[in-house]
Amino acid sequence: MARLQGIRAVVFDAYGTLFDVHGPMRKLAAEIGPRAEEISRLWRQKQLEYTWLRSLMGVHADFWHVTGDALDYALAQHEVEEPGLKDEIMALYLKLEAYPEVAAALEAVKANGRLTAILSNGSPSMLESAVRHAGLERFFNFVLSVEDVGIYKPSRRVYRHALQKLQIHDAPAVCFVSANTWDAQGAAQFGFQSVRVDRFVLRDDRIPGKPAALIKDLSELAGLL
Ligand code: LAC
Repeated sequence: MARLQGIRAVVFDAYGTLFDVHGPMRKLAAEIGPRAEEISRLWRQKQLEYTWLRSLMGVHADFWHVTGDALDYALAQHEVEEPGLKDEIMALYLKLEAYPEVAAALEAVKANGRLTAILSNGSPSMLESAVRHAGLERFFNFVLSVEDVGIYKPSRRVYRHALQKLQIHDAPAVCFVSANTWDAQGAAQFGFQSVRVDRFVLRDDRIPGKPAALIKDLSELAGLL
């Protein structure tokens, strides 16, 4: 695969890219039952839908709130009503596991001497907790949240916020890395050189924006820079 040229900073999506969002339901599968995986997928889908809907409606609520609403929906839809279960799942969402290759991949990217950041829908406290739990603090110059902007990805305002914080004026100097199709594509449409991590074996969405590269996991990233 061709190397990306002129990259000065590498910016990562968090959930689904660095952190495994399906871990909580997997851990509690015995309690939740055989539909745990399906419920987890619905939870994630609704979580994302609610970010887009709230952005369009102009009624922002932070990602903790949205994640809780989406979990309520997914559990109710599957008629799971065990008391205390929601709180247990939400607590695990603050301690998500990083995918196995993440630390080594970040080490390799850092070795290239580039700036690194997270740019995520997550609220600052959620991100702080996930990064600390996974022991990834030392790898990032910035951990940026959409809460500073008040709208969710893929709003251009969010990607622009990263440029401002990084003090970079030309968008193509940023490599943006996401396992979310719409996020990798939104970032590409904004002007970043975008790399999609194909963790979920998905086609690009039929929306504007084409990632510059597709990798199977983050271990391939440093080789592109
Ligand atoms: C994030 C979601 C999109 O971290 O995964 O922003």
